[in-house]
Amino acid sequence: MNRNAPIGVFDSGIGGLTVVKELMKFMPQEDLIYFGDTARTPYGSRPPAEIISFMHQILSFFTAQEVKLAVVACNTMTALGLEMAKTQYPFSLVGVNTGADLAYEVSKNKKIGVMATQATITSENHARAIHKKDLDAFVYQQPCPKLVPLIENKQVEGQDIELAIAEYLLPMKQAGIDAVILGCTHYPFVSSVIEKTIGNDIRIIDPARETAMEAKQLLEAQGQLSNRTQGKVRLCFSTDLERAKKMASFMFDIKEVEFELVNLEEFTQ
Ligand code: DGL
Repeated sequence: MNRNAPIGVFDSGIGGLTVVKELMKFMPQEDLIYFGDTARTPYGSRPPAEIISFMHQILSFFTAQEVKLAVVACNTMTALGLEMAKTQYPFSLVGVNTGADLAYEVSKNKKIGVMATQATITSENHARAIHKKDLDAFVYQQPCPKLVPLIENKQVEGQDIELAIAEYLLPMKQAGIDAVILGCTHYPFVSSVIEKTIGNDIRIIDPARETAMEAKQLLEAQGQLSNRTQGKVRLCFSTDLERAKKMASFMFDIKEVEFELVNLEEFTQ
């Protein structure tokens, strides 16, 4: 495996850019290729078999790009397809960290909220990770199906997003949680609205940093970190590059970043 090969990062849409931001911080020397399936987002309300087949299509794209590692920057695909995919590709895979350790550490009363897509909540991935630490912990799981379509539509502030977040989070607050995991990579785009809604007493856990650290540790352990000084970032989407550029500019400086439209149909399994 070529140590200067790119790292692939992917999500159903623009959400995984919140992980790209951390990867750029931790591994500026790496070439990153991102794929966001903006034409078919959201994934989180789709049947599991369809989500898994989309994931394999994206991984075929990354096989063609000869990546050395793929970061699944999507909780939904991590929960549904990661373990199986790990044995099927010529590169390693890392999924989104669940945030369970972080949440458990900061929570005083061991009442933890999880916001995620319907598919992630149904998988119980986060609840399982928290209960592995402490079977008695109280986990309040909340599917938030309105959030991804609003965020993809650039509605990261204003009445619609405020109302949706209040609808999902106020019952959790009422139930007494003192930490909430952002179990979908789209949600950090609206963390200021989340904070405004739940107040300062509830800690918000975004596992993007841990995810980037795990990716770096894996490459380090494999002796696969790039020996360049500065990598290039290429962001690919399946539709509407202008919208993607706008959303990426909320996360990091896009001056040096390349954008590209990719038709996934060309990459069948
Ligand atoms: N960003 C993705 C996640 O972390 C999913 C969003 C979607 O529903 O497409 O789960």
